[in-house]
Amino acid sequence: MTINLHKFLFILIIFLMNNHVKVDCFAKAKTPPNIIVMMADDLGWNDVSFHGSNQIPTPNIDALAYNGVILKNHYVLPICTPSRSAFFTGRYPIRDGMQGYPLKAGEPRGIPLSTKLLPQHLKSLGYSTNLVGKWHLGYYKDNFTPARRGFDTFYGYYNGYITYFNHTITESNRTGYDFRRDTPRKLEPLKKSDPLKYATDVFTDEAVEIITKHNKSQPLYLQISHLAPHASDAVETLETRDINSVNKEFGYIRDSKRRKFAGMMKALDESVGSVTEALSKNGLMKNSIIIFMADNGAQTIGFLENHGSNYPFRGLKFTLFEGGVHGVACVYSPLINKTGRVINDMMHITDWLPTLYKQAGGVIKNLGTIDGINQWSIIKNGKRNDITRQGRKSVLINIDEKQQQVGAIRGKWKLIKGEKNALDGYYRENISDVGFNDSEYVAKVLNSTVNLVIKKIAKSSINEKQILNLRQESQITCKPLDKVSSNCSNLCLFNIVNDPCETTDVSAEYPGVISNIENYISYYQSVLMNQTNAPVQPESFPEHFHGVWMPWLDNNVWK
Ligand SMILES: *[C@@H]1O[C@H](CO)[C@@H](O)[C@H](O)[C@H]1NC(C)=O
Ligand SMILES: *[C@@H]1O[C@H](CO)[C@@H](O)[C@H](O)[C@H]1NC(C)=O
Ligand SMILES: *[C@@H]1O[C@H](CO)[C@@H](O)[C@H](O)[C@H]1NC(C)=O
Ligand SMILES: *[C@@H]1O[C@H](CO)[C@@H](O)[C@H](O)[C@H]1NC(C)=O
Ligand SMILES: *[C@@H]1O[C@H](CO)[C@@H](O)[C@H](O)[C@H]1NC(C)=O
Ligand SMILES: *[C@@H]1O[C@H](CO)[C@@H](O)[C@H](O)[C@H]1NC(C)=O
Ligand SMILES: *[C@@H]1O[C@H](CO)[C@@H](O)[C@H](O)[C@H]1NC(C)=O
Ligand SMILES: *[C@@H]1O[C@H](CO)[C@@H](O)[C@H](O)[C@H]1NC(C)=O
Ligand SMILES: *[C@@H]1O[C@H](CO)[C@@H](O)[C@H](O)[C@H]1NC(C)=O
Repeated sequence: MTINLHKFLFILIIFLMNNHVKVDCFAKAKTPPNIIVMMADDLGWNDVSFHGSNQIPTPNIDALAYNGVILKNHYVLPICTPSRSAFFTGRYPIRDGMQGYPLKAGEPRGIPLSTKLLPQHLKSLGYSTNLVGKWHLGYYKDNFTPARRGFDTFYGYYNGYITYFNHTITESNRTGYDFRRDTPRKLEPLKKSDPLKYATDVFTDEAVEIITKHNKSQPLYLQISHLAPHASDAVETLETRDINSVNKEFGYIRDSKRRKFAGMMKALDESVGSVTEALSKNGLMKNSIIIFMADNGAQTIGFLENHGSNYPFRGLKFTLFEGGVHGVACVYSPLINKTGRVINDMMHITDWLPTLYKQAGGVIKNLGTIDGINQWSIIKNGKRNDITRQGRKSVLINIDEKQQQVGAIRGKWKLIKGEKNALDGYYRENISDVGFNDSEYVAKVLNSTVNLVIKKIAKSSINEKQILNLRQESQITCKPLDKVSSNCSNLCLFNIVNDPCETTDVSAEYPGVISNIENYISYYQSVLMNQTNAPVQPESFPEHFHGVWMPWLDNNVWK
């Protein structure tokens, strides 16, 4: 009986499609979801408490993770401009010349205008598109700025970072203001007389405002690209809302810089709570996909060091080691069928473009040449049941043809070449610097704004046992990193399933694996566009624009 009914429906659908009858009931059944992306800057693996640390609590982020799905093997690029380029284009940055050193203030380049970005794709599907916070993908001409590349609104900064209160950036010995409100028609810096509030709070307020004013007849795309927990100046400035209360609350952390880092994380975590609460209050939550992720690992040592922690991974930002490219990520959505899961399947930051575009109602083949794959069925059901895809087996980590630095993963094997940086530099949690035990931790998560909001709308919500199990499952366990001896300035091969902390180079034992990965990489070498990094142009300096970093070529305002 049922088989016959199915057959009948199938034939009916084919008939309707062949006859170009608009199947309206199908179209209406699925309103495109609201998509909220929260991206943290230079956040390390061990800086969220859902990976097991009892030092800095992130109960709101963790509640999203536990009530949704945890992406345990989410890969990103090792630095911000390439990583954000990959996110917005769905393409490895080598295809667009974006694989090199991050954009400097006053550097005349950006993602080629011929490459369409996620907000442009979503806009064509009827979305309202909004970016709050960091851009860092080029602004030398007006047409390279976010509000000219698919965002209806942009409220934030063009460069790599700003100071948390002054909203300035100093590069090439020039300090300029970098904070603006742009729309496609009007690119305009905010007046410096605007109250200079703590950046994380300013972005949160704007995000809440966008959510509150949103007209629900349109689907919403809102990306909050946080400054936190990035350091805000070359001289290692870690700025908190209020250092006295931070010192009081996190007094158990003896390293004063790590304590400041904890203060930056607290504000970031509260932001996640406020944004989620606003979505719920305004009735947007039930049809939303909320993603939280890091752009790359923490800069634990060196230029713009932030005292984040990639523990137990080896390496840091700028490196091909896991500490640089194995990023924090989770998704919460009432549209996820089976929640409370740790997903071990490999994901890459390029996967978001097709994944989200498809959920928004788009047809993936219209996206042209991309490297991302649609991962929704894994996120939704934990199954690779998408007809055309087998899941992700390989990742090109990056090719930097100038630094002669190359890395790729195929299955359990990871090959890296030319990784001169031998610093581990991770902040290793001191066992006596913890702030809470497991039962206190669970109470924090259960009582977090995010968990209380989700409890109201979800049929079921997490309990203590589930929290502790998921937390256990999302941790990476390694041999002690102190034994690391391999020097990868030539080449290293790691089995990252057995040795996720990359302590043991096994290249001598598996020449066949090396040539297999080299073959894989050589395809990408053949499509690589040389990196477009260029010298900073003095014409860009803020002294030419009333102290503001501005587009300096083809600029129609403020000259
Ligand atoms: C912010 O501006 C004030 C006043 O010019 C200055 O004293 C302070 O050092 C600046 N802070 C940062 C982090 O640059
Ligand atoms: C910046 O200025 C300092 C002294 O004021 C100087 O030593 C340094 O070389 C300058 N750096 C650049 C990039 O111009
Ligand atoms: C929302 O948008 C729809 C369609 O454009 C419009 O008809 C409606 O008036 C808008 N509602 C508000 C409150 O602006
Ligand atoms: C989840 O998937 C299962 C199996 O496909 C199905 O029976 C169930 O109805 C789904 N639940 C929801 C909430 O979609
Ligand atoms: C790694 O080897 C290279 C060349 O053999 C050498 O120059 C470099 O100092 C070594 N690095 C470390 C951290 O030992
Ligand atoms: C951890 O704390 C103990 C106790 O204060 C101290 O003796 C030790 O040096 C610390 N270890 C590290 C690695 O900071
Ligand atoms: C956790 O800490 C609280 C407060 O200090 C204490 O009451 C409780 O017994 C501790 N729980 C465990 C399991 O150690
Ligand atoms: C829950 O959080 C609120 C404030 O967010 C606090 O006042 C209350 O004491 C907390 N309750 C528990 C049981 O921790
Ligand atoms: C790209 O860069 C390589 C060196 O990294 C150089 O040999 C080659 O000529 C460059 N190609 C183009 C088209 O500029």
